[in-house]
Amino acid sequence: MKELLIIVISYTIVSHVCCCDFEYPTFPDGFKFGAAISSYQSEGAWNVSDKGVNDFDHWTHTCPECIGDRSNGDIACDSYHKYKEDVKLLRKIGFKFYRFSISWARILPSGLANNVSKDGIMYYKNFINELYMNGIEPLVTLYHFDHPQGLEDMGGWTNELMTQWFVDYANIIFTEFGPSVRIFITINEPSTLCTGYQATYVAPSKPLGDVGYYLCMHNVLKAHAMAYHLYDKKFRPSQHGLISIAIACDGYTLNENNDVVSAETYFEFTCGIMAHPIFIGDYPAIVKERLALVSKSQGYTVSRLPTFSPEWISYIKGTVDYFALNHYTSNLVSPDPDELHGIHNSDSGLLTNQHPSWPNSSSFWLRVYPDGFGNLLRKIKTDYNNPEIYVTENGFSDYGELQDYDRINYFRLYLKELIIAVTRDGCRISRYTVWSLLDNWQLAAGYAVSFGVVKVDFNSPNRERTLKLSAAWWADVIGTHTLQDVPSK
Ligand code: NOJ
Repeated sequence: MKELLIIVISYTIVSHVCCCDFEYPTFPDGFKFGAAISSYQSEGAWNVSDKGVNDFDHWTHTCPECIGDRSNGDIACDSYHKYKEDVKLLRKIGFKFYRFSISWARILPSGLANNVSKDGIMYYKNFINELYMNGIEPLVTLYHFDHPQGLEDMGGWTNELMTQWFVDYANIIFTEFGPSVRIFITINEPSTLCTGYQATYVAPSKPLGDVGYYLCMHNVLKAHAMAYHLYDKKFRPSQHGLISIAIACDGYTLNENNDVVSAETYFEFTCGIMAHPIFIGDYPAIVKERLALVSKSQGYTVSRLPTFSPEWISYIKGTVDYFALNHYTSNLVSPDPDELHGIHNSDSGLLTNQHPSWPNSSSFWLRVYPDGFGNLLRKIKTDYNNPEIYVTENGFSDYGELQDYDRINYFRLYLKELIIAVTRDGCRISRYTVWSLLDNWQLAAGYAVSFGVVKVDFNSPNRERTLKLSAAWWADVIGTHTLQDVPSK
């Protein structure tokens, strides 16, 4: 608490020297701020009690060289043991909700529903209870990339049976936690998850090329819809909750030729591939057309993009109660000139890059382009009939600095876009979630990049937490419900 006070006092002195330089500084009434984390990236305790081995345990243990710093999440932030401390930090900063995920293998060690771990259930019940005792609402992701290795051994998301295994797991989660949790997310970022069946960026790290990627996406959409309908029919009448799927949508900007067609194609290939089946029905036309064309030119007899039957199209359509949006960065989009010569270097037929003038971060893929966020919010409003949006992840990576001015600058610029989208453009955004509360294990980048507003000392067995300057900035933003300037150095 002392640390936070010192940071708040020094921050307040500088922050009041300057004031807000644009006309939308205040957040709408009822707007809520929270922070996010996920099980494998923070919990540690990989082999505690009867927890089963998951695909991330397996990947990092069998292929340490796949991770930049050869690290893993065996201990991570040790949040499994330190969750009470994490909850205190949330409370100190003022976050109103915490988005965290449940480790499938902690609940069902083998992945299948015949053996439920009492300890796993108890751990998350205690955690949820601790949140409520501190006035913080739980926002629960059922599945954030980590699934039991036993299921992966049977094909994971390339096996259609995974949809049933997921629904059996979801049934246990809704039964056990639904009475005390109002907001659920079924699956986090299918497009990131499914690169695990295409390349080696995330577990299970099976380089099955672009066949594996689309097969995974297809099964994930089905599994999500099945879990949604299960909740809707069996649990919603008594639990009255809301449920969605977290979709990763990058922003984009037109190239100098004002190429609207390429921009539209990019949106459909990245965001639309998940959002279109859910909000409109079926995959976007351009995605189906391009995949059919490119697959044929590669000698496939059928498109690498599987087809939904009319029954599945209507079953998947409408299966969210809000748009759960994960957003970090944007791309400049242009047509690949090779397409003119019938050469298809990519499924989308596009080239993407990030403008060198956009400030960079410690992640190779993340540059700061706030306009892209504003445009994306308006695009979602236009294309999907102005759904209620929860920003379920947004954040910036650096190298772990305590005086994290660049992170504050990022938040400030992106939140300004959010306020404009709400106030001026009528987007219905009601929650914003910081990724992340803590520095945590960042997939193939290991611990080399930091996203937390709280630093974790990964070299210390106690994993001490230290509030960064951005934590004080957030305390002020949340406390005043008003966007604040970046403190002067
Ligand atoms: C999105 C993912 O959901 C999260 O797990 C990851 O750490 C962040 N992107 C940052 O890379």
